[in-house]
Amino acid sequence: MSVRMAPPLPLILLLMIQGVYSADDDWDLTYSPSHICALKDSTVTINCTYTYPTGYQINTVFWTNTVRPKDQDSPDLFNDSEYKQRIQYVGDKQHDCSVRLTDVRHTDSHEYYFKFITDQDKWTGAPGVTLAVTDLQVESEGETVMEGHSVTLTCESTCSLTDTSTFIWFRNTHTLNERKKKLILPSVRRENAGDYSCAVQGHKLTSPPRRLHVFYPPDKPVISISSSGVIVEGDSVNLTCSSESNPPVHIYSWFKENQTSSVGSGQTFSITNINSCLSGWFYCVAQNKHGSQRSDAVSLTVKALSFSVSFGVELCVGVCGASAALLIVMFICRRKSLRRKASEHKPENDDVSNDTYNALELKTRSSDLYDTLTRRSSKKQIL
Ligand SMILES: *[C@@H]1O[C@H](CO)[C@@H](O)[C@H](O)[C@H]1NC(C)=O
Ligand SMILES: *[C@@H]1O[C@H](CO)[C@@H](O)[C@H](O)[C@H]1NC(C)=O
Ligand SMILES: *[C@@H]1O[C@H](CO)[C@@H](O)[C@H](O)[C@H]1NC(C)=O
Ligand SMILES: *[C@@H]1O[C@H](CO)[C@@H](O)[C@H](O)[C@H]1NC(C)=O
Repeated sequence: MSVRMAPPLPLILLLMIQGVYSADDDWDLTYSPSHICALKDSTVTINCTYTYPTGYQINTVFWTNTVRPKDQDSPDLFNDSEYKQRIQYVGDKQHDCSVRLTDVRHTDSHEYYFKFITDQDKWTGAPGVTLAVTDLQVESEGETVMEGHSVTLTCESTCSLTDTSTFIWFRNTHTLNERKKKLILPSVRRENAGDYSCAVQGHKLTSPPRRLHVFYPPDKPVISISSSGVIVEGDSVNLTCSSESNPPVHIYSWFKENQTSSVGSGQTFSITNINSCLSGWFYCVAQNKHGSQRSDAVSLTVKALSFSVSFGVELCVGVCGASAALLIVMFICRRKSLRRKASEHKPENDDVSNDTYNALELKTRSSDLYDTLTRRSSKKQIL
């Protein structure tokens, strides 16, 4: 922007009288650009050029942010404690009046003027150059989005940055590929949730993070059973329903197949002192405010009287076996005593040796058992 400075009144009058006044030729001051949008903490260079008629001698050049009436001095920014550590005159005392300001702050947002003092007068380039200092802010239509919907995040500044600015996007600590001011997610997935921040390439300023929440109804729940083995009456069993959702599932309901009303609620369905009547197919329903889902049914089989049946049979077999063995032992003992008694009365009895043979063969020859038993009864008669 070109700022034309009026020459001092005596000169104008002189020029007008002479009829050769042309400010364009001699007096000119240009701030380029005249409006600057700068990121906080960045370095700004205000390009500035000035011309004045030949014959004038420049004594002092400085920058100020306050225009005062002519007879008062404008404050010199180079002497201002707010600026003097950060401002640098990069121009000269001829035609370049550029200035550089580092680590710009919000309080630097002002209109600035170049002022020079010649051997004849003081000049202020008004209107000046405006500097606006901005932060970066990630904006979105809402903080929350449903999975599958689209969302646009915008890296906002309070003033317009140059069109050539390249943006950098971050999700949590990852750098994303988008290089534009707007980050468009056409179909949001739950993995897209996170803290988003943006920056402008070449500048250290990064926006504060903005959290994006992605909501979705429960995934199909899965049931886990606390007991992995056989469940028998009297056991305690926990059925646990697990489902991923955002926000987290707030209602879990438990159902038994072909039973309309729910049998329980809560993520874990605890059954203590289980009864075989509870055997059946169970499923759970997980619900959050965006929807609900039911699980596949799982079978719960409770063994009734399992203890007495299995152990009872073993016990019975054991007792019968022991009884049979006892019977055989008793029988052999009995035979021995019979033989002893028989030999006392009839030492040469052939029947006795036959009986012994039969008794010894009892284990292998089942038919002999009958013989032996019949012989035994016949001996009873002898006795
Ligand atoms: C300011 O001047 C420098 C060189 O003199 C140039 O590289 C830069 O692009 C200029 N800036 C603007 C905003 O015109
Ligand atoms: C700035 O300070 C210097 C000395 O440090 C002084 O000579 C000069 O006059 C001051 N300028 C203004 C505009 O106050
Ligand atoms: C069932 O869950 C409760 C608490 O949630 C726990 O105290 C109990 O030990 C669990 N029972 C089984 C059989 O896992
Ligand atoms: C539930 O009822 C349907 C028909 O009404 C039947 O086909 C199914 O076998 C039943 N399931 C159970 C576990 O009883």
